[in-house]
Amino acid sequence: MSSSSLPEVINSWFAVARSEDIPAGSVKAIHLMGHRLVIFRTEDGKLAAMDGACPHLGGSLAQSGTVEGGVLRCRLHGFCFDTAGQCTETGYGTKPPPLKARTYPVREMLGTVLLYFHETAETPTWEPPLDDGPIWSRPTHDVFSLTSHPQEIAENAVDTGHLTWIHGFSEATRTGPLEVDGHRVRQGIRCRVPNKLGVGGGADIEMDFAFHVYGLGIVIVESHVPSVDFFSRTFVMSSLVGDGTMDVRVVSQCRDIGRSTSHLPLKWLMPERAAERLLLTVYRRAMLFDFRRDLVYWAHKRYLPRPGLASGDGPIVAFRRWAKQFYPRGFELPMAPELDVDGDVSFITPAKPKVRLPQLPPSSQLQTGWWRGWRETLPDPIRKRFFTGSGVAAWASVLGIGHRVRA
Ligand code: FES
Ligand SMILES: [Fe+2]
Repeated sequence: MSSSSLPEVINSWFAVARSEDIPAGSVKAIHLMGHRLVIFRTEDGKLAAMDGACPHLGGSLAQSGTVEGGVLRCRLHGFCFDTAGQCTETGYGTKPPPLKARTYPVREMLGTVLLYFHETAETPTWEPPLDDGPIWSRPTHDVFSLTSHPQEIAENAVDTGHLTWIHGFSEATRTGPLEVDGHRVRQGIRCRVPNKLGVGGGADIEMDFAFHVYGLGIVIVESHVPSVDFFSRTFVMSSLVGDGTMDVRVVSQCRDIGRSTSHLPLKWLMPERAAERLLLTVYRRAMLFDFRRDLVYWAHKRYLPRPGLASGDGPIVAFRRWAKQFYPRGFELPMAPELDVDGDVSFITPAKPKVRLPQLPPSSQLQTGWWRGWRETLPDPIRKRFFTGSGVAAWASVLGIGHRVRA
């Protein structure tokens, strides 16, 4: 258990890697809740995840595993395992023993690999939200590393009070009570946000948000600007690495981007693709500006099992009651039963609050691999060739290194 007093075992879907970092025929090591796992993609493109320790004699598949056709071979004694974890071959040409590596369900969504972890290896009873079509633009990807806990990131979706004090939003109000539906909750918010670009006279912009939380690893923030009918969404996906550290992957998209680019100044001068790229870049920068405020808040906050809630707070107790289901059986999430479980739905934060927003450290101190940020703005063919998992091989060929380098 971490110093946050929340368990470091969570039964949920987690975003653990980028799809493009695991090309066909490659293996990637990850850490999740203190476990060392490997994700590999067979030569024909099938993705699988299994324990990082080879079930033969405990060798590290992360260090010595290679993909051969449709199996992962451990190079310590040559044993092979298929995507179901079954041993299919020994390194001696003898009959394979009934060995089975523990495997983990995996899915891919918007270029992100999602993995289901369950303490007792139960199969998932629910699915993560998957890509829902071409109406959304290509996604942008960013990844951050911090000391926190996935529940803290998910709970942010119902912490309506912070919208004013961390983000400077005003007149924030919930559009209804917290909607609880099995593995997911939804909270709608309407508010006015500062007009950072100063367009249209610089008045605050009215915005609608819908926060969808799936388990404790995935939060989708949908936003809509009614004045220009602009829709966007950001997936905030956390995964607990272990020892209190976690990664947060941020994936953003704009909806109907072709229609939205018509609002850009000098749009008629730009090819469609350039206009879309510009809009995505502007949106991503604005979104990350606010997101970095949350990161600083999360990195320094401490989880209080019995918070001192007041009228005006969001439905934090109701959220925590829901969150309990994702922890190991028998774990009791301390509650404050005397508090209203759904907060005050009618509460509206003050108009134009005088808020001194927190100072931000440079983004390079927050982001894992600062280069990940700017590479997203490169055209796809260049980015894929030189800045993805297989890009190492591309650089090697440019530098005239003769042998193939495995990513
Ligand atoms: S430890 Fe992996 S094959 Fe022996
Ligand atoms: Fe926030």
